[in-house]
Amino acid sequence: MTQLLYIETFGCQMNERDSEIMAQLLGEQAYHRTEHPEEADVVVVNTCSIRGKAAHKAYSCFGRYRKIKEKNPNLILAVTGCVAQQDGAALLERMPYIDIVMGPQAIYALPSLVAAARREKKPQVATDLSAEFVIPPFLPNLAEGPAHKRFITIMQGCDNFCTYCVVPYTRGREISRSFSEIIAEATHLVRQGVKEITLIGQNVNSYGKKGATRQSRGFPELLRAVAGIDGLERLRFTTSHPKDLSEELMRCFVEIPSLCPHFHLPVQSGSNPILNRMNRRYTIEDYLAKVAKLREYRPDIALTTDIIVGFPGETDNDFAATMQVLETVRYHGSYSFKYSDRPNAKAADFSDKIAEEVKTERLARLQARQEEIALELKQAEIGKTVEVMVEGASKAPANQWSGRTGTNQIVNFSCAARLVPGQLHMVEIESACQNSLRGKMI
Ligand code: SAH
Ligand code: SF4
Ligand code: F3S
Repeated sequence: MTQLLYIETFGCQMNERDSEIMAQLLGEQAYHRTEHPEEADVVVVNTCSIRGKAAHKAYSCFGRYRKIKEKNPNLILAVTGCVAQQDGAALLERMPYIDIVMGPQAIYALPSLVAAARREKKPQVATDLSAEFVIPPFLPNLAEGPAHKRFITIMQGCDNFCTYCVVPYTRGREISRSFSEIIAEATHLVRQGVKEITLIGQNVNSYGKKGATRQSRGFPELLRAVAGIDGLERLRFTTSHPKDLSEELMRCFVEIPSLCPHFHLPVQSGSNPILNRMNRRYTIEDYLAKVAKLREYRPDIALTTDIIVGFPGETDNDFAATMQVLETVRYHGSYSFKYSDRPNAKAADFSDKIAEEVKTERLARLQARQEEIALELKQAEIGKTVEVMVEGASKAPANQWSGRTGTNQIVNFSCAARLVPGQLHMVEIESACQNSLRGKMI
């Protein structure tokens, strides 16, 4: 009998990909996706815990599902992702109506956990994190998500222990997938018509280097092998740790034509004392030298970053140093956040916390300046002709299409013909606004 599945996903691409995997696994058991949780037989909430606000969003949505469950007692409510891993069985004490609490390593067991919850009529907890965990071989189908571009998880977990970060505790030790299984998954996707692949992990530059899951070939070799699959137009990856950015990886941007000229390189802060207290293991001079080198190899590369403001002990001078990095690098975009205490993360115990008003003011200043720079960089594109991969029709008006450049900027353009997502077209840029470029197809 057909059953209905509703999935709500918070957080990063790792979670997005995990949700697709769970949907496929239950799809094989005749579950269909629904957009309406009220009619679902199984609800999966895939949570994020990166900042207090993200975790709070998850907790507050459980209340909504509780009400749905009161009307439909047969509903199975499963909570996964980083909040589930972090809180484990304790989540059941606060929210006894949850049926399954499972960590990110347990997603492959979802169908059997659902069956067990139904059979035993009692909550199931699967939150063991093992350093010996092996990501199972998995061949995705395209029933879930877009048909032209896909994420492939190449590793899980993180061993870096930045002092503000919860990820090493929620995703566990750094584990790489087998090289040949990644290639098998990528080949399978490209054969089904996928044009763009993004390799994802918390720290992709150290792919294959660690522990039991050591691989004989590293990240640059993986990029070359995936790029070699016939029919793949664009290759991307995220995220990179600056300390692990090698010159061999930089060279890939010259040698691999399908590797898109965009690099997300989180800086976090421009001040050495703060970087040190964050345990980032690079200085701002190291970081800027790598940026300069990367641009020698690939002058047209677009850089984006992550920044934390108001880390414990951040003085006006430390913050000024971060503002200076914006001027020096000129990022195409930045994700910036107010520092937030996280369970288990070391910085939660640091004493010199920054007042909320100060964090708010610094974040506003940083974001305002970054927006100006991003707009200037967009305006510099006017008059150029760029290659755009079609994403789909834009909402209104008619004959308007939307796509992305290799540098990952959104381009809206008009074309009377029907376009197909994944196609590449040349577009002449005519104008720029804060979040997108506009042009005409040529
Ligand atoms: N593995 C990636 C991304 C980790 S999470 C990396 O190392 O770059 C994404 C971003 O969230 C981080 O880069 C950081 O800027 C931000 N972040 C993580 N923990 C945070 C915290 N406790 N408070 C505020 N921002 C945080
Ligand atoms: Fe968190 Fe640092 Fe690991 Fe990124 S590298 S996931 S910020 S511990
Ligand atoms: Fe959030 Fe976990 Fe990703 S904390 S950002 S979902 S790794």
